[in-house]
Amino acid sequence: MNLVKKKIIVAVCGASGTIYGIRLLKALLERPIDVKLIISSSGEEVLRHETDCNTQDVLEILKKDGIRMHPDALLEQYEQDNLFASPASGSFRHSGMVIAPCSMKTLGTIAAGIAGNLIHRSADVCLKEKRPLILVPREAPLSLIHLKNMLTVTEAGAIILPASPSFYLQPKTIHELVDTIVARILDHIGIEHQIVRQWGE
Ligand SMILES: Cc1cc2nc3c(=O)[nH]c(=O)nc-3n(C[C@H](O)[C@H](O)[C@H](O)COP(=O)(O)O)c2cc1C
Repeated sequence: MNLVKKKIIVAVCGASGTIYGIRLLKALLERPIDVKLIISSSGEEVLRHETDCNTQDVLEILKKDGIRMHPDALLEQYEQDNLFASPASGSFRHSGMVIAPCSMKTLGTIAAGIAGNLIHRSADVCLKEKRPLILVPREAPLSLIHLKNMLTVTEAGAIILPASPSFYLQPKTIHELVDTIVARILDHIGIEHQIVRQWGE
């Protein structure tokens, strides 16, 4: 009997590397997890550009990626401007929020404490309620402003988990490379997985 199902908020922003968000969704939905998904309008455009897929139907993208959705998994998607959605409220209890990828715009907005859309507001709520907030930023190189914003959100309780995949497990495909980051995200939101080997296994 599944008494307490994990609820995770996933946001996809308009930074390059939208495949991180897709692979994360796949990993979550193959488990009995409630996923609340928010894709920013720029995120939709970049996702379409990078995957050649229509972002209106994320499940279609996941099916192309070979998802084996868990029967108890649930995917609920919200518009970025829907500030009435559950993640906008501190009374909505969940296990954490991941923004993958996170643009410098969204990073800066969160660092400034501005809750302009549902992604910013949900992240702001995580920080005030002391719930896990993991940002997967992608930009290169980083300006002083980007670095200061990363410091600010880290001091406020967020985890910066840069989209810099590792090579020491000798990944053979882009998916394997991306999954080195997805595995670290799952570690930080307390989800058991065997997506990649652990070093020393
Ligand atoms: C193809 C493409 C790639 C982009 N890559 C990045 C990126 O890697 N990092 C970043 O911070 N912004 C990137 N941007 C710019 C963001 O999309 C832009 O700042 C946008 O306003 C972010 O909005 P959002 O945070 O609401 O998604 C990219 C834009 C495009 C069109």
